[in-house]
Amino acid sequence: MQTNPSQSIGVFDSGVGGLTVVRALVERLPFESIIYFGDTARVPYGVKSSETITRYAMQITEFLLQQEVKLLIIACNTMAAVSYQAVAGLSPVPVLDVIDAGARSTVAERHTKNVGVIGTPATINSNAYERAIHRYNPGIRIVSRACPLFVPLIEEGWLDHQVTRLTAQEYLRPMLTDNIDTLVLGCTHYPLIKGLLQEVAGNDIRLVDSALAMAEMAANLLREKNLSNPEQIPPDYKFYVTDVPYRFQAIGERFLGRQLFPVQLIKW
Ligand code: DGL
Repeated sequence: MQTNPSQSIGVFDSGVGGLTVVRALVERLPFESIIYFGDTARVPYGVKSSETITRYAMQITEFLLQQEVKLLIIACNTMAAVSYQAVAGLSPVPVLDVIDAGARSTVAERHTKNVGVIGTPATINSNAYERAIHRYNPGIRIVSRACPLFVPLIEEGWLDHQVTRLTAQEYLRPMLTDNIDTLVLGCTHYPLIKGLLQEVAGNDIRLVDSALAMAEMAANLLREKNLSNPEQIPPDYKFYVTDVPYRFQAIGERFLGRQLFPVQLIKW
Protein backbone atom coordinates (compact mmCIF):
# COMPACT_ATOMS: atom_id res chain seq x y z
CA MET A 1 0.00 0.00 0.00
CA GLN A 2 1.34 3.45 -0.97
CA THR A 3 1.22 6.02 1.81
CA ASN A 4 1.65 9.74 1.38
CA PRO A 5 1.77 12.68 3.82
CA SER A 6 -1.63 14.07 2.82
CA GLN A 7 -3.47 10.96 4.02
CA SER A 8 -5.32 10.89 7.34
CA ILE A 9 -4.39 9.32 10.65
CA GLY A 10 -6.83 6.55 11.62
CA VAL A 11 -7.73 6.46 15.31
CA PHE A 12 -10.03 3.90 16.88
CA ASP A 13 -11.63 2.98 20.15
CA SER A 14 -14.49 0.88 21.47
CA GLY A 15 -16.57 4.05 21.89
CA VAL A 16 -16.16 7.75 22.56
CA GLY A 17 -13.27 7.46 25.06
CA GLY A 18 -10.64 7.53 22.31
CA LEU A 19 -11.67 11.09 21.55
CA THR A 20 -9.37 12.08 24.46
CA VAL A 21 -6.54 10.86 22.20
CA VAL A 22 -7.96 12.76 19.19
CA ARG A 23 -8.07 15.88 21.34
CA ALA A 24 -4.38 15.53 22.17
CA LEU A 25 -3.54 14.81 18.50
CA VAL A 26 -5.46 17.87 17.27
CA GLU A 27 -3.50 20.06 19.68
CA ARG A 28 -0.10 18.54 18.90
CA LEU A 29 -0.61 18.03 15.13
CA PRO A 30 -3.00 20.80 14.02
CA PHE A 31 -2.51 20.16 10.28
CA GLU A 32 -3.12 16.41 10.27
CA SER A 33 -6.46 15.04 9.09
CA ILE A 34 -7.99 12.38 11.33
CA ILE A 35 -10.53 9.62 10.78
CA TYR A 36 -11.95 8.39 14.06
CA PHE A 37 -13.86 5.15 14.52
CA GLY A 38 -15.82 4.49 17.72
CA ASP A 39 -17.68 1.20 18.08
CA THR A 40 -20.48 2.77 20.10
CA ALA A 41 -22.92 -0.08 19.34
CA ARG A 42 -20.70 -2.69 21.01
CA VAL A 43 -18.99 -0.72 23.78
CA PRO A 44 -17.89 -1.64 26.47
CA TYR A 45 -15.12 -3.98 25.30
CA GLY A 46 -13.37 -4.03 28.68
CA VAL A 47 -15.59 -6.78 30.07
CA LYS A 48 -15.60 -8.97 26.90
CA SER A 49 -13.46 -12.00 26.03
CA SER A 50 -10.13 -11.64 24.19
CA GLU A 51 -11.51 -13.49 21.13
CA THR A 52 -14.42 -11.10 20.77
CA ILE A 53 -12.27 -8.00 21.35
CA THR A 54 -9.77 -9.13 18.68
CA ARG A 55 -12.51 -9.96 16.16
CA TYR A 56 -13.95 -6.45 16.59
CA ALA A 57 -10.48 -4.84 16.47
CA MET A 58 -9.69 -6.55 13.15
CA GLN A 59 -13.00 -5.49 11.65
CA ILE A 60 -12.31 -1.85 12.57
CA THR A 61 -8.72 -2.09 11.28
CA GLU A 62 -9.95 -3.33 7.90
CA PHE A 63 -12.45 -0.48 7.74
CA LEU A 64 -9.81 2.19 8.44
CA LEU A 65 -7.32 0.65 6.01
CA GLN A 66 -9.99 0.90 3.31
CA GLN A 67 -10.10 4.66 4.06
CA GLU A 68 -6.38 4.68 3.16
CA VAL A 69 -4.98 6.02 6.41
CA LYS A 70 -1.20 6.54 6.70
CA LEU A 71 -0.98 5.60 10.38
CA LEU A 72 -3.21 3.60 12.74
CA ILE A 73 -3.58 4.53 16.39
CA ILE A 74 -5.20 2.08 18.79
CA ALA A 75 -6.69 4.62 21.17
CA CYS A 76 -8.34 1.95 23.30
CA ASN A 77 -6.33 0.39 26.11
CA THR A 78 -8.44 -2.75 26.01
CA MET A 79 -7.82 -3.40 22.28
CA ALA A 80 -4.15 -2.42 22.68
CA ALA A 81 -3.83 -4.90 25.57
CA VAL A 82 -5.50 -7.83 23.85
CA SER A 83 -5.34 -7.27 20.08
CA TYR A 84 -2.17 -5.30 19.23
CA GLN A 85 -0.48 -8.24 17.47
CA ALA A 86 -3.55 -9.02 15.39
CA VAL A 87 -3.94 -5.39 14.30
CA ALA A 88 -0.24 -4.95 13.51
CA GLY A 89 -0.26 -8.24 11.56
CA LEU A 90 -3.06 -6.95 9.37
CA SER A 91 -1.74 -3.45 8.80
CA PRO A 92 0.71 -2.39 6.09
CA VAL A 93 0.90 1.07 7.73
CA PRO A 94 2.55 1.76 11.12
CA VAL A 95 0.49 1.01 14.24
CA LEU A 96 0.85 2.92 17.52
CA ASP A 97 -1.01 2.08 20.70
CA VAL A 98 -1.84 3.83 23.94
CA ILE A 99 -0.29 1.18 26.19
CA ASP A 100 3.16 1.60 24.68
CA ALA A 101 2.69 5.38 24.91
CA GLY A 102 1.65 5.11 28.57
CA ALA A 103 4.56 2.80 29.40
CA ARG A 104 7.12 5.13 27.79
CA SER A 105 5.68 8.08 29.64
CA THR A 106 5.77 6.13 32.93
CA VAL A 107 9.47 5.29 32.70
CA ALA A 108 10.43 8.74 31.34
CA GLU A 109 10.47 10.10 34.91
CA ARG A 110 13.60 8.53 36.33
CA HIS A 111 12.50 8.58 39.99
CA THR A 112 9.62 6.20 39.20
CA LYS A 113 9.83 3.05 41.34
CA ASN A 114 6.34 2.01 42.48
CA VAL A 115 3.64 2.18 39.83
CA GLY A 116 -0.11 1.65 40.11
CA VAL A 117 -2.04 0.83 36.93
CA ILE A 118 -5.82 1.12 36.65
CA GLY A 119 -7.91 -0.01 33.67
CA THR A 120 -10.74 -2.25 32.51
CA PRO A 121 -10.81 -5.94 33.56
CA ALA A 122 -9.59 -7.04 30.09
CA THR A 123 -6.63 -4.65 30.21
CA ILE A 124 -5.62 -5.53 33.76
CA ASN A 125 -6.06 -9.31 33.28
CA SER A 126 -3.85 -9.22 30.17
CA ASN A 127 -0.86 -7.82 32.16
CA ALA A 128 -0.05 -5.77 29.06
CA TYR A 129 1.00 -2.71 31.08
CA GLU A 130 3.38 -4.76 33.25
CA ARG A 131 5.00 -6.21 30.13
CA ALA A 132 5.23 -2.84 28.40
CA ILE A 133 6.67 -0.99 31.43
CA HIS A 134 9.14 -3.81 32.22
CA ARG A 135 10.31 -3.79 28.60
CA TYR A 136 11.66 -0.28 29.27
CA ASN A 137 12.56 -0.68 32.94
CA PRO A 138 12.42 -4.15 34.55
CA GLY A 139 13.20 -2.71 37.99
CA ILE A 140 9.87 -0.93 38.44
CA ARG A 141 7.41 -2.48 40.89
CA ILE A 142 3.83 -2.58 39.57
CA VAL A 143 0.48 -3.08 41.27
CA SER A 144 -2.68 -3.01 39.21
CA ARG A 145 -6.41 -2.90 39.71
CA ALA A 146 -9.40 -3.32 37.40
CA CYS A 147 -11.92 -0.51 37.89
CA PRO A 148 -15.02 -1.59 35.93
CA LEU A 149 -17.32 1.03 37.51
CA PHE A 150 -15.39 4.04 36.21
CA VAL A 151 -16.48 3.76 32.55
CA PRO A 152 -20.25 3.90 33.28
CA LEU A 153 -19.78 6.65 35.88
CA ILE A 154 -17.81 8.77 33.40
CA GLU A 155 -20.34 8.17 30.61
CA GLU A 156 -23.02 9.30 33.04
CA GLY A 157 -21.09 12.56 33.31
CA TRP A 158 -20.32 12.12 37.02
CA LEU A 159 -16.88 13.61 36.68
CA ASP A 160 -16.85 15.47 39.95
CA HIS A 161 -19.46 13.50 41.84
CA GLN A 162 -19.43 12.05 45.32
CA VAL A 163 -20.26 8.54 44.04
CA THR A 164 -17.25 8.64 41.68
CA ARG A 165 -15.05 9.97 44.49
CA LEU A 166 -16.10 7.16 46.85
CA THR A 167 -15.58 4.60 44.08
CA ALA A 168 -12.09 5.98 43.42
CA GLN A 169 -11.25 5.88 47.13
CA GLU A 170 -12.30 2.25 47.27
CA TYR A 171 -10.39 1.24 44.13
CA LEU A 172 -7.22 3.17 44.94
CA ARG A 173 -6.96 2.38 48.67
CA PRO A 174 -4.76 -0.74 48.36
CA MET A 175 -2.38 1.04 45.94
CA LEU A 176 -2.11 4.08 48.14
CA THR A 177 -1.32 1.84 51.13
CA ASP A 178 1.36 0.30 48.91
CA ASN A 179 2.97 3.74 48.53
CA ILE A 180 2.83 4.09 44.75
CA ASP A 181 4.63 7.14 43.32
CA THR A 182 2.90 7.02 39.90
CA LEU A 183 -0.63 6.15 38.79
CA VAL A 184 -1.14 5.12 35.16
CA LEU A 185 -4.57 5.95 33.74
CA GLY A 186 -4.87 2.76 31.67
CA CYS A 187 -8.20 3.52 30.04
CA THR A 188 -9.15 6.21 27.55
CA HIS A 189 -12.04 7.34 29.73
CA TYR A 190 -9.98 8.12 32.81
CA PRO A 191 -8.39 11.43 31.73
CA LEU A 192 -11.87 12.91 32.20
CA ILE A 193 -11.67 12.25 35.95
CA LYS A 194 -7.99 13.15 36.24
CA GLY A 195 -8.76 15.99 38.68
CA LEU A 196 -10.78 13.74 40.96
CA LEU A 197 -8.19 10.95 40.82
CA GLN A 198 -5.40 13.40 41.64
CA GLU A 199 -7.41 14.64 44.59
CA VAL A 200 -7.99 11.09 45.89
CA ALA A 201 -4.40 9.96 45.22
CA GLY A 202 -2.83 13.15 46.62
CA ASN A 203 -0.53 15.64 44.95
CA ASP A 204 2.64 13.61 45.52
CA ILE A 205 1.53 10.94 43.05
CA ARG A 206 2.23 11.51 39.34
CA LEU A 207 -0.67 10.69 37.05
CA VAL A 208 0.24 9.31 33.61
CA ASP A 209 -2.24 10.16 30.84
CA SER A 210 -1.28 8.19 27.74
CA ALA A 211 -3.23 10.52 25.38
CA LEU A 212 -0.55 13.21 25.64
CA ALA A 213 2.31 10.72 25.25
CA MET A 214 0.48 9.21 22.27
CA ALA A 215 0.31 12.55 20.46
CA GLU A 216 4.05 13.03 20.98
CA MET A 217 4.82 9.53 19.66
CA ALA A 218 2.63 10.10 16.60
CA ALA A 219 4.40 13.40 15.86
CA ASN A 220 7.83 11.70 16.12
CA LEU A 221 6.83 8.76 13.95
CA LEU A 222 5.38 10.97 11.19
CA ARG A 223 8.54 13.06 11.18
CA GLU A 224 10.87 10.03 11.10
CA LYS A 225 8.95 8.42 8.24
CA ASN A 226 8.55 11.67 6.30
CA LEU A 227 4.78 11.36 6.62
CA SER A 228 3.99 14.73 8.27
CA ASN A 229 1.51 16.73 6.21
CA PRO A 230 3.49 19.69 4.80
CA GLU A 231 0.33 21.64 3.92
CA GLN A 232 -0.60 24.16 6.61
CA ILE A 233 -4.30 24.28 5.83
CA PRO A 234 -7.27 23.37 8.05
CA PRO A 235 -7.40 19.56 8.16
CA ASP A 236 -10.34 17.26 7.69
CA TYR A 237 -11.89 15.41 10.64
CA LYS A 238 -14.28 12.49 10.11
CA PHE A 239 -16.02 10.58 12.89
CA TYR A 240 -17.53 7.16 12.28
CA VAL A 241 -19.64 5.37 14.90
CA THR A 242 -21.70 2.16 14.88
CA ASP A 243 -24.56 3.67 16.87
CA VAL A 244 -25.70 7.11 17.96
CA PRO A 245 -26.83 6.42 21.50
CA TYR A 246 -28.70 8.68 23.88
CA ARG A 247 -26.64 11.80 24.78
CA PHE A 248 -23.92 10.74 22.33
CA GLN A 249 -23.21 14.26 21.06
CA ALA A 250 -22.88 15.75 24.54
CA ILE A 251 -20.66 12.96 25.84
CA GLY A 252 -18.52 12.92 22.69
CA GLU A 253 -17.98 16.66 22.83
CA ARG A 254 -16.92 16.43 26.45
CA PHE A 255 -14.25 13.91 25.47
CA LEU A 256 -13.15 15.82 22.41
CA GLY A 257 -13.28 19.28 24.00
CA ARG A 258 -14.84 20.75 20.84
CA GLN A 259 -17.73 20.23 18.43
CA LEU A 260 -18.12 16.66 17.20
CA PHE A 261 -19.03 17.07 13.56
CA PRO A 262 -19.83 15.47 11.14
CA VAL A 263 -20.62 12.03 12.59
CA GLN A 264 -21.32 9.20 10.16
CA LEU A 265 -23.18 6.06 11.16
CA ILE A 266 -21.85 2.66 10.04
CA LYS A 267 -24.35 -0.17 10.30
CA TRP A 268 -22.59 -3.46 11.05
N1 DGL B 1 -11.89 2.24 25.55
C1 DGL B 1 -11.77 1.32 26.64
C2 DGL B 1 -10.35 1.36 27.20
O1 DGL B 1 -9.59 2.28 26.97
C3 DGL B 1 -12.76 1.61 27.74
C4 DGL B 1 -14.20 1.35 27.36
C5 DGL B 1 -14.51 -0.13 27.11
O2 DGL B 1 -14.56 -0.91 28.08
O3 DGL B 1 -14.73 -0.47 25.96
O4 DGL B 1 -9.95 0.43 27.86
